[in-house]
Amino acid sequence: MPTVDQLVRADAVHRDIYRDPAVFELEMTRIFKRTWVYLAHESEVAEPGDYVTRTVGREPVVLVRGEDGVLRAVVNRCRHRAALVCEHETGNAKSFRCQYHGWTYRNDGRLIGVPHPERQSADVRERLGLAVVPRVESYRGLVFGSFNPAVSGLAEHLGPAALGYIDRFLDHCAGLPLTAHRQAHRITMPANWKLQLENGLDGYHAGFTHRSFFDVMRRRTGASVRFASGLPTATARAFRNGHTAIDPETTSRKPLIQRVSTLPGAAAKLDALRAHVGPQRFDEYAGAITGAGINVGIFPNLQLIGIHLRRIEPVSVDRTIVSVRPLLAVDAPPELNWLRLRYHELFYGPAGFGQPDDFEMFDRVAAGLADSEDGWLRFERGHGAETETEDGETIVGNVTDEIPQRGQYRQWRALLAGETA
Ligand code: FES
Ligand code: FE
Repeated sequence: MPTVDQLVRADAVHRDIYRDPAVFELEMTRIFKRTWVYLAHESEVAEPGDYVTRTVGREPVVLVRGEDGVLRAVVNRCRHRAALVCEHETGNAKSFRCQYHGWTYRNDGRLIGVPHPERQSADVRERLGLAVVPRVESYRGLVFGSFNPAVSGLAEHLGPAALGYIDRFLDHCAGLPLTAHRQAHRITMPANWKLQLENGLDGYHAGFTHRSFFDVMRRRTGASVRFASGLPTATARAFRNGHTAIDPETTSRKPLIQRVSTLPGAAAKLDALRAHVGPQRFDEYAGAITGAGINVGIFPNLQLIGIHLRRIEPVSVDRTIVSVRPLLAVDAPPELNWLRLRYHELFYGPAGFGQPDDFEMFDRVAAGLADSEDGWLRFERGHGAETETEDGETIVGNVTDEIPQRGQYRQWRALLAGETA
């Protein structure tokens, strides 16, 4: 196993971080078992008994709201002989019954039923409840868990700059609260999880990887497209602890609304929306259709992009599940959510015009990792030309600078070296 310094430099990473199973093992313990990991949006587990199954690193957990209303994450592993106690992705249950020998656990983890208890020691129920993930905290509906009891508080870990961007993202919908769609696109990609980590905050690639999308939009709208990468005011940002953002910093939503209006059936829905909210507020609502217009990355496994929450779930060194879950506005005119979903689908999901192109690039990178003289992948764009905000919370540069990736790998390095949590 190479040392951390042989794997990562300030402006480059070695190809082995994407393909060495030993590095993956280390990531699962030193990153995913030590820091905060995003689990779900609170609206997915709104009622007592609501649960979703997740993994933290490779450990299966159930995030469940107890009958007392408290959100807990319990380890999805029977204390008898290790079978999963909950095999569904989502549901509502007061208890979980292991199908192997029938042990039953309350949804707060307590062991409440052991068949034929006369053959067990008297204290089996007290001793063998489900393990509980020691820390669960949420920020504005985003629920995180950590196996590290000593990890700093979630808000402290996110820091003021990332919190500001999360707020901006969550406030993008005309002042309406957001709820998570019950369904998500779940895409299994045959590539290392960090390719998605980097790509979701990559302000450099859109005009190339997504060229066909912009060509289609140009044909449909008749308007030429200005990529964020061509805007001198658009920024890339790195915050504390590997959190990041790209920010086009443009106030004009016009080109995006033009794209929305080319969707089949959208013209009538836009008219209905205008009638619903009135002409004064129409622009504000129309602007909410396409999302906040910023990409926010919360290291290691959450990205807030468009109208969706993207969860990155490493499975093995060359296998990752990417889940893309749209957010809908609560108590909104029905046309608003219809338009949000149709615009979201235009780019994201397996049938979108955009996201599959990123996966194609991941395949090409994976193919290019083969042994050669040059083992390095470079993130040196704009290196040395960054500035720091006065409060010291943000490193900032042009949107095409690889500032987010350098920030992500600073945190990756620090966690792998055991210097932070
Ligand atoms: Fe769960 Fe035996 S493994 S009851
Ligand atoms: Fe992309």
